[in-house]
Amino acid sequence: MCGIIGYIGKNNAAPILIEGLKRLEYRGYDSAGISVIDKNGNVKTIKKIGKIENLEKSINGQMVIGGLCGIAHTRWATHGIVNELNAHPHFDCQKNIFLVHNGIIENYSDLKEKLIKEGHKFISQTDTEVVAHLIEKFFEGNLENAVAKALKNIKGAYGLAVISKKDPNKIVIAKKSSPLLVGLGENEFIIASDASAILAYTKQIIHLNDGEIAVIGNDKINFTNLDQEIISKKSEIFNEDFNNADKGKYQHFMLKEIFEQPKTLRNSVIGRLIKKEGWAKLGGLEIIENKLREIDRLIIVGCGSAYLAGLVGEYMLEEYVGLPTEVEFASEFRYRKPIFGENTALLCISQSGETADTLAAVEEAKRKGILTLGIVNSVGSSIARKTDAGVYNHVGPEIGVASTKAFTSQLEILVLLTLFLGRQRQMSLVMGQRIIKELERLPIWVEKILRQAPKIKKLAKKYYKSKDFFFLGRKYNYPIAMEGALKLKEISYIHAEGYGAGEMKHGPIAMIDKNFITFGIAPIDSVYEKMLSNLEEIKARNGKILVIATEGDKKIQKITKDVISIPKTLEMLTPILSVVPLQLFAYYCAVFNKHDVDKPRNLAKSVTVE
Ligand code: M6R
Repeated sequence: MCGIIGYIGKNNAAPILIEGLKRLEYRGYDSAGISVIDKNGNVKTIKKIGKIENLEKSINGQMVIGGLCGIAHTRWATHGIVNELNAHPHFDCQKNIFLVHNGIIENYSDLKEKLIKEGHKFISQTDTEVVAHLIEKFFEGNLENAVAKALKNIKGAYGLAVISKKDPNKIVIAKKSSPLLVGLGENEFIIASDASAILAYTKQIIHLNDGEIAVIGNDKINFTNLDQEIISKKSEIFNEDFNNADKGKYQHFMLKEIFEQPKTLRNSVIGRLIKKEGWAKLGGLEIIENKLREIDRLIIVGCGSAYLAGLVGEYMLEEYVGLPTEVEFASEFRYRKPIFGENTALLCISQSGETADTLAAVEEAKRKGILTLGIVNSVGSSIARKTDAGVYNHVGPEIGVASTKAFTSQLEILVLLTLFLGRQRQMSLVMGQRIIKELERLPIWVEKILRQAPKIKKLAKKYYKSKDFFFLGRKYNYPIAMEGALKLKEISYIHAEGYGAGEMKHGPIAMIDKNFITFGIAPIDSVYEKMLSNLEEIKARNGKILVIATEGDKKIQKITKDVISIPKTLEMLTPILSVVPLQLFAYYCAVFNKHDVDKPRNLAKSVTVE
């Protein structure tokens, strides 16, 4: 979390930094700050609580100090409340050193205690401030030397950008477990936590690796390790297009992204479906095709919606590939002692490719020598670069904090993976072709569902004041029940729980009364009758019910009139349809509750700290 941007070159730094911050705002948006330094070493720092626009407004007119070098930050609070003192950039006692940081300094309290005893004065509650004081302690006229020494004392994760009045005309940056890259322009450099912030200036970038430091001057850049030994690095051309990052005719990015799904579902499979062979062509996996044949156990890891997509994948891979699969929160996996066999593989799912826990799970698996695979949306992200092989989603940047188009694409890629592995093993040609035929229809079915948006809006109007929701599903739609609950919680702040409907009798049904709403997902599939019985049991206890059902289903009408229909498809594909009304329902509830849909409270799009 938190976004870092830095600039040194021939232009006024402040406007470039503000533009970059706007692109990084999805990483955190509780406060933001900027420091700009001019050639003579005068530094101007401004920090503001709230969104970047607050900072931008207060900068207008104030930042014209001709500063061609600066750093800026958008914060997601970890240590210390949201206020201006805790906002970055942080500085040392003498206000000589200014820095922005993404990550967590784990040994900050020990360091702080020691530095206070040595006479340093702290003004914030953050972990980051210790880094400024440590650099101050080691500073002897050269900024990079002091940074390298300071970093040797630090435990934790950091993406860091530092400037100093006493050693101006340079930015020193460093990385460990938190993404950081440098864009190379013409006589200018721009530093950022991710490429989306800098592509307007340059497509030529260099990613820093863990344990690397870069010293960036007006016209040159040097890389070293923490021992300050010179290392050489090559730049790469980043070809992703982030231009569609505007809301268009939609009120919110989330709504735009929900409505984009027919297109993104097409984009995720384009060129990947080989109808004749009932097979999926996944270029990223072809190089390890033979290795994949040998896999006898798959562990899927992810966080939030990505984890829930993995749960759907488990049903697919076990049913159609016969591959023993287990799914785990990345945050749990990294601290367990998982038992790996020789042919175990790890598959991580991540939209951003930067989620700290998922990245750590990859690192843990690599340490143990097992094959690592990824389903990642963000091209060139840390997870995409770390995994041995993988598949990109190709759905373009997802800006709304609530995952929508990335989630349905993750499900679709899991279907492709099922085809890929299934056809290597037990899946027949006919079955492969059948899945492909149904997959190709999904965008049309989603368009049809989206046409029900006005009806879903009406249902949201009826229920948005409710305090409690159950989302119930079974088998393939059990994870979708949890996804529906997650969506409602994160943007509407309404208490919601997702359950396997069969679990209700084992406790949760005690909650049901006339005020507790149940949202059932009951397409006509192999568990349809069971699902109906579970909903009847809720109705018998006066619970209010809404249902997602297959078009033309008459039986469901006897349970409730609040029905949203989805077209009939293969059972394994129903989650890609059933989740769409749940996204819309959560969206409209949030709008009626007057919440900031794209930037819900306490959240950030990319969770780059543990
Ligand atoms: O970028 P990732 O896919 O790794 O993110 C994982 C979760 O943080 C993410 O899915 C989160 O749960 C969403 N806000 C859910 O809508």
